[in-house]
Amino acid sequence: MTERHSPTVAPPLTPDTDPGGDLAARLRAELADELHRRGDLRSPEWREAVLRVPRHLFVPTFFQRTDGPGPTTWTPRTGELGEKEPTSRLETVYSNTTLVTRLDGDRRPQDVEGPVTGTPASSSTLPGLVVRMLEESGARTGDRVLEIGTGTGYSTALLCERCGDGSITSVEYDAGAARSARDSLTTLGRHPTLVVGDGLLGHPGTAPHDRLIATCSVRHIPPPWLDQVRPGGTLLVPLSGRLPAYGLVRLTRGERAGEARGEFLPGCVSFMGAAGHGAPAVGGLPNPPTREDATERATDHGPAVLEDWTTAFLVQLAVPTARLLGIRAEGGAFVEHLVDHTTGSSATLLPDTGSGYRVRQTGPVRLWDAVEETLERWERAGSPDQSRFGMTVTDHRQWVWAGSPDGPRWELPTDAPTR
Ligand SMILES: C[S@@+](CC[C@H](N)C(=O)[O-])C[C@H]1O[C@@H](n2cnc3c(N)ncnc32)[C@H](O)[C@@H]1O
Repeated sequence: MTERHSPTVAPPLTPDTDPGGDLAARLRAELADELHRRGDLRSPEWREAVLRVPRHLFVPTFFQRTDGPGPTTWTPRTGELGEKEPTSRLETVYSNTTLVTRLDGDRRPQDVEGPVTGTPASSSTLPGLVVRMLEESGARTGDRVLEIGTGTGYSTALLCERCGDGSITSVEYDAGAARSARDSLTTLGRHPTLVVGDGLLGHPGTAPHDRLIATCSVRHIPPPWLDQVRPGGTLLVPLSGRLPAYGLVRLTRGERAGEARGEFLPGCVSFMGAAGHGAPAVGGLPNPPTREDATERATDHGPAVLEDWTTAFLVQLAVPTARLLGIRAEGGAFVEHLVDHTTGSSATLLPDTGSGYRVRQTGPVRLWDAVEETLERWERAGSPDQSRFGMTVTDHRQWVWAGSPDGPRWELPTDAPTR
C-alpha cells in the first residue's frame, strides 16, 4: 500500500518570502481571475495555491523577449521589482506570460548587459499552462507526484501547496536552475524531494508515484517513468519531435509492467525538449541536399499542413526524423523544406505560382510521399482533430492513434535517444 503524506501547512508569507506585499497579493488575485476566465484554473484548491505562491520569488530575474525584423533579442530584467520599463517587473511576473530565465545553457539575466541573442534553456512556463496541467493531472492532497523539470520551482511550489511537501519529488537536469529552485523553495518554507539529474530516468527512490507530470517534452515515454508510476496512476506528458509540433497526452498506467494508454488533451502547448530527447540545433546543419535523384510532382497539400496544429503533428508522426527548415528564396517568400539528415532525404514545397503546389523530393526516403500517405489515412478516418488522438504504450512499442484505438496509428521512434 502506498504511504500517504498529509500536506504540511505552509508558513505564513512574510516580507522576506513575499517582498511585493499587498501589490503582489493583488496581482496574484488578478492572475487567478484571468486564469479562471480562460478556463485554465477550475478548482478552489488550485486557486488557493496560485494565491499563496509568490511567483516573483521563483523568477527574481528574467529575459524580456523582443521580436524585430532581425533575430529575436532578450533584454535582462534584473532591476527593482517596482522599476518600470515599460511595465513593472512585478506586473510582468504576474501576467500570463512564459518568462525565460536562462539562455544557451547557463547564461542568466545578471550575467549579461543589454539585449542579447540566444536560445532559451530554462523558463518559468506560462502560468495558464502550468495551472491547466496541474488541474488535468488530477493531483490531490497526499498524492505522490513525480515532476520532471523543476525549472524555477514555481510549479513545484504549487504542487507542495496542493499535495504536501512530503509527497512531491522534482527532478532537474540543469544544476544551476536546480540550485536557484531549491533556494526559492527553502525561502518559502517548502521542502520537497529535489533531485539534480536526468529526469528521463525518473527517480526510483520515491517510487511508486501516483502521478507523473513532465514540464519538458519527450519523443516517446521513457520506460523508467512507467516503472515508477503505480498501476492506475497517471502520467501527463508533452510529446514533441523534430518539428515544431506538440501534443499533451494523459496516460493511465496499466496493470501489466510497461503498459499505459490514454488520450490527448485539447488545446495548444509548447514545451522545451527534454535534454536527451530534444532536436539538435538547426544552426550548423547542412542545407537540404541537392542530389541528382530529385523528382518533382504536383501535390494537393501545401505549406498549410505544416502550420495547422493537428496536421503538423501528423507530419511529425509520418517522418519522425525530419526537421523543418524555412529558407527565404530569392524574391522574398519562405520556402519550406523537410530535411532528414539521418537518411539524406529532403522534400521542398515549391511556392504556388498559379497552377497549384509542387513538391521536389530527393534521397532514399520520399518524405512528402510519406506525409501524404499519413494525411490520406487520417482523412479516411474522418479527419479527427488532435484532441481525438490517443496513445498506447506496451513494454516494447508505443504508438499514437487517431479517432479511436482501432483507427489509423503511427509508431513513435523509441530508439536510443540522441544527446
Ligand atoms: C519549462 S522548464 C520547467 C518549468 C517549471 N515547471 C517552472 O514552473 O518553472 C523545463 C525544465 O526542464 C528541464 N529539463 C530538460 N531536460 C531535462 C531532463 N532530461 N531531466 C530533468 N529536467 C530536464 C530544463 O532544464 C528546464 O528547467
